[in-house]
Amino acid sequence: MAVRNTIQVVPRARRTLSSLRNLGYDLRHAVADIVDNSVSAGATTVDITVHFDGTGSWIRISDNGWGMNANELTEAFRYGSDREYTSTELGRFGFGLKSASTSQCRRVTVVSRADTPGATLEARQLDLDHIDRVDSWEIFGLAPDELPEPVRSALGEASGTVVLWEDLDRILQYQNPFGGWAKRLLIACAEDIDEHLGMVFHRFIAGEVAGRDPLQITVNGAFVKAWDPFCRSEANTTALQEEDLEVRSRHGNGIVHLSPYVLPHQNLFSSSTARKQASGPKGWNRQQGFYIYRANRLIQSGGWCRLRTVDEHVKLARVSLEFFPDLDNAFGVNVAKGSVTLPEELRDALSSRVPTWSKVANTAYRQKQLPKSVPPSRSRPTPTAPTPQAPAQDPARGLSDPDRKGTPSIRPVPPSPALASPQVPASTSEVPGTTALHARQALEAAAAQTGETEALTRIASTLRSMFPEVARDLGW
Ligand SMILES: Nc1ncnc2c1ncn2[C@@H]1O[C@H](COP(=O)(O)OP(=O)(O)OP(=O)(O)O)[C@@H](O)[C@H]1O
Ligand SMILES: [Mg+2]
Repeated sequence: MAVRNTIQVVPRARRTLSSLRNLGYDLRHAVADIVDNSVSAGATTVDITVHFDGTGSWIRISDNGWGMNANELTEAFRYGSDREYTSTELGRFGFGLKSASTSQCRRVTVVSRADTPGATLEARQLDLDHIDRVDSWEIFGLAPDELPEPVRSALGEASGTVVLWEDLDRILQYQNPFGGWAKRLLIACAEDIDEHLGMVFHRFIAGEVAGRDPLQITVNGAFVKAWDPFCRSEANTTALQEEDLEVRSRHGNGIVHLSPYVLPHQNLFSSSTARKQASGPKGWNRQQGFYIYRANRLIQSGGWCRLRTVDEHVKLARVSLEFFPDLDNAFGVNVAKGSVTLPEELRDALSSRVPTWSKVANTAYRQKQLPKSVPPSRSRPTPTAPTPQAPAQDPARGLSDPDRKGTPSIRPVPPSPALASPQVPASTSEVPGTTALHARQALEAAAAQTGETEALTRIASTLRSMFPEVARDLGW
C-alpha cells in the first residue's frame, strides 16, 4: 500500500482550552469529577474547603490516595492523558481533572506525593491567563517555595493529592466580589457540594462498595452524610424483585442490575425527619424514577428517562439501575458524567416493567400500607463489578438476607481539612430558601444539560440588574 502524505494539525491551545471549559459541568459535577479521581486513587478521606476571600476565593480538594510522581503528575495535566483503566474505575476519558477544574476557575494547581518510599512533593499549575498569552500547551512546574498558601497547609507527610482552584471566574461574577452576595453564594455553593456528594457517593460513604473501606468526605470541616435514595433503613420500605438484564449492543455488552424499591407512605416513615430527608434534593415528585449508577457512583438521580411521566401517585417508586464501564459506550457516558442515555434494548425491557413498579407505588401511596402481595424483601445489595468474561457471583448479595425469596427473573445474578481563615461562616440564614435553591439548581442543571451554561450566566446577570429581588431569592 502506498505511503500516504500526512500533515500534523496541532490544536491551538488558547481557543481549544477556552472551548473545553464548556463541556457541561456545573460546580457540583465538577467537584464530583475531582472526587472520582480521589476514589480511583484509593483515597479513604477527601476534604473539600470552599474559602471566601473576594477575588482571592478558592476551592481545595485534598485526598489521602496513592498520589502521583513527577511524570504521572505531568501526564495528568495532558488532555486525553494516557492510562489503562480497570473494569471498575470511575475515570475513562483522561479529561476530568483539567476540564472540571477549568470549567470553574482560571488557575488550577495540583500538588501530589506518591506512596513510594522517599517520594517528594510534586506540583504543577495550569494557568489560563498564561495560555492566553503564549497560545501554547504549557503548564508550570512549581518549586516548594512557589506553592500557593492553601496547598502548603493541606498535605502532610503521607501520600495524597491536593487540587486547588483559584480565580473562580465562573463562580464569582459579582461586580463586588468582596460583597455579601458573593459571600452568600459561596456558602450556598458549599451546601450544594455537600448535598450532591452525599448523594452521588452514598454507597462509598456508607461502606457498601465491596473491597473498599468507607469513604469519608468533609466540606468545610463537616462530614458529608450518605443520602440513601431507597431509605433501606426504614422498616416499611419495600424492596421489589431484583434482576439482571443483559445488554448486547454494537457499543458493548454487559449486565445491568435492577433493584426497584417502593418507599413508605409518608405516614409510615419512622419519623418526620426521616420522611423529610427521604424527599431528596429535588423533592418527592422529581426524585421518583431511575437512579443510575456507574461503577457504584450515582450518575443520574430520579426521572423516568421518558418511559413515563413524573406523577404524584407514583412518587414512592425509585429504581436502582447499575452498570459498569463495559457499557459506557452503550449508555453514552460523557466527559462530565452527569447523565446517560438508556440503550434502546434496555428501554424496551424497562418499559414493560415500569407499569408494574408504578402500580405497587400507587397502591402504597393510596392505601397507606404495604400491599399484601409484595414480600417485604429487606436486602441491601452490595454491587460488584462483572469480570470481563463472565459475570461473577456476588456473595454479598446472597448473604445479605438468607430468607429473601426474590430471584432474578432474566438470568442469574452476576456478579484533613485545613481550615484557613477567614472561614466561610457556618450560618445559612441568608442563603436562598429551599424552593428557590431548587429552582436555581433546576435552571443550572437544565442549562448544563443543554450546554447553555454560559447563556444562563448571562441571564442571571441580566436578572440581577432587572429584577434584583428575584435574583437575590435565587441566590444569584
Ligand atoms: N487525586 C488523584 N490521585 C492520583 N492520581 C490522580 C488524581 N487525580 C488525577 N490523577 C491521575 O491523573 C489522570 C488524569 O485525570 P483526569 O481526571 O484528567 O482523567 P481520568 O480520571 O483518567 O479520566 P476522566 O476524564 O474520565 O476523569 C488520572 O487517570 C490519574 O492517573
Ligand atoms: Mg478523572
